[in-house]
Amino acid sequence: MLVSENAFKLWAIHPTADRYTFEGADTLVEFAEAHGMKVRGHTLLWYRYMPDWIEKATFSPEQWDQVIHEHITTVVSRYKGRVQYWDVLNEAISDGGSGALRQTNWSDGLGPDFVDKVFTWAHEADPDALLFYNDYGAEGMNRKSDRVYALVKGMLERNVPIHGVGLQLHLTEAGVPRPEEVQRNIERLAELGLQVHITELDIRLPDRASADMFETQARLYRAYLEACLAVENCTAFVMWGFTDRYSWIPSFQAGFGHALIFDAAYRQKPAYFAIRDALAPQSSKLQDFGAGCNCTP
Ligand code: XIL
Repeated sequence: MLVSENAFKLWAIHPTADRYTFEGADTLVEFAEAHGMKVRGHTLLWYRYMPDWIEKATFSPEQWDQVIHEHITTVVSRYKGRVQYWDVLNEAISDGGSGALRQTNWSDGLGPDFVDKVFTWAHEADPDALLFYNDYGAEGMNRKSDRVYALVKGMLERNVPIHGVGLQLHLTEAGVPRPEEVQRNIERLAELGLQVHITELDIRLPDRASADMFETQARLYRAYLEACLAVENCTAFVMWGFTDRYSWIPSFQAGFGHALIFDAAYRQKPAYFAIRDALAPQSSKLQDFGAGCNCTP
């Protein structure tokens, strides 16, 4: 499964009001198709990194409806049948005690039912695509994951099309949600009939990490993979990149790096072997993956 780090984000694909730039996303989707891979479209709406034409806009509510509807319809229809999963909404719940939905000019403009609207529009554009709500810090059992649970439960009760929840899992090796709790959280979402994807796993280490830290990192990678494998509705395990050569961590978290399973020279790290070992008994489940490619599963 292939995920674009940025190519589907609004600033990348729709940088000015009257112009779409599909080249990056097209290239990715074509690559995925050529290699028998599925695609997660990340993401239709995010409160961060909006282009100026959105960030500085002063549209009326009717205009916001029209602009966001048009954006979602254009992007989702273009990749209809080719992007199987969409992170429709990314990080919409605030970290504060209230757990309220984050306020942006576009969410204000769309109104109090903006979440329902944007999922409905995405569904209309591709009824077969599975639609996800994706967030960070809501992986274990905590106040934020309770909020995510309440949000998606409410959507299901209102018959809003939502099919899954994405758990990002951007972690440091020193402070992590307990894997058993992540599994419990996945289970309660399963009880609602939703799928869960691990969407952005990386576990960062200090620049000068000790050998022990790489071992801890490996154990954690394995433990989260096992939490996912333990619950049938956890249907994807996605890392936010694969080589430390290209990871967002060093430029976003000063003093940290080493977050992925291959090092900057593309050598396998302990985390690579740990997840490989955890997958070994599951190899029958990986047949689909092996089928389309010339590689050893
Ligand atoms: C990050 C990308 O990795 C960076 O390249 C970009 O500059 C900023 O966004 N949560 C998300 C992702 O949902 O979209 C973010 O990706 C990382 C945090």
